Amino acid sequence: MIRCFHVTKRYGAITALRDISLQIDEGEFVFLTGASGAGKTTLLRLLYRAELPTSGQLIVAGRNLATMPRRQVPRFRRRLGLVFQDFKLIDDRSVFDNVALVGRVVGLSYTESQRRANELLRLVGVDGRAQLFPAQISGGEQQRVAISRALMTAPQLLLADEPTGNLDPDRAIEIMRIFRAINRRGTTVLVATHDPDLIAAMRRRTLILEAGLMRTLTAARKVP
Ligand SMILES: Nc1ncnc2c1ncn2[C@@H]1O[C@H](COP(=O)(O)OP(=O)(O)OP(=O)(O)O)[C@@H](O)[C@H]1O
Ligand SMILES: [Mg+2]
Repeated sequence: MIRCFHVTKRYGAITALRDISLQIDEGEFVFLTGASGAGKTTLLRLLYRAELPTSGQLIVAGRNLATMPRRQVPRFRRRLGLVFQDFKLIDDRSVFDNVALVGRVVGLSYTESQRRANELLRLVGVDGRAQLFPAQISGGEQQRVAISRALMTAPQLLLADEPTGNLDPDRAIEIMRIFRAINRRGTTVLVATHDPDLIAAMRRRTLILEAGLMRTLTAARKVP
């Protein structure tokens, strides 16, 4: 699903990522961790083609990102689900619309968009909040809405950048359980987090960045 070959990303004099090579197979659930400034967000931004590497190759969901023309980026992104720390919900739309509108944007029919939005809000447990506005629900609920929105396109790959950064530990674990359920349904999941408790609780393969360099550890066993 993801292959990186000797990827380096520089911002002027700063080298955010240095000679990163990695492979994430279809169906895997992988964590990406490392101290603040280690390069986690930069790597995710390269993977969803928000930026291009300074050198090296990235293959994501069968596409070579370095050679992909700009006009193909929107279509490529539809294969991905993106979840950010700040949920990026639309304030003046209901929870339901925030999710359902994505279906319309990617070309689903009105009925299919409504059906999927209902199903996904139920999956993440906020169907009871569907008619409220984002400001009327809690941070954890907003994050769950953002996750159901990310799943509207039935993504092959879910990329999440500190998805639990604003949540208390119980809520964070709850979000990870949702990701695990999504992963079991076949979506490859990559979660960037600097929360060691979360990683310990989930016991999945964990990629560690240290000042732009990759170190790899493999989790001993999975949570039952
Ligand atoms: N647009 C940019 N311009 C210049 N430097 C940047 C830019 N984006 C990232 N950097 C630098 O690249 C390095 C890696 O940043 P990045 O945001 O990827 O870290 P991170 O691991 O996500 O950190 P955090 O845990 O704080 O989110 C940092 O030194 C940062 O200052
Ligand atoms: Mg970051």
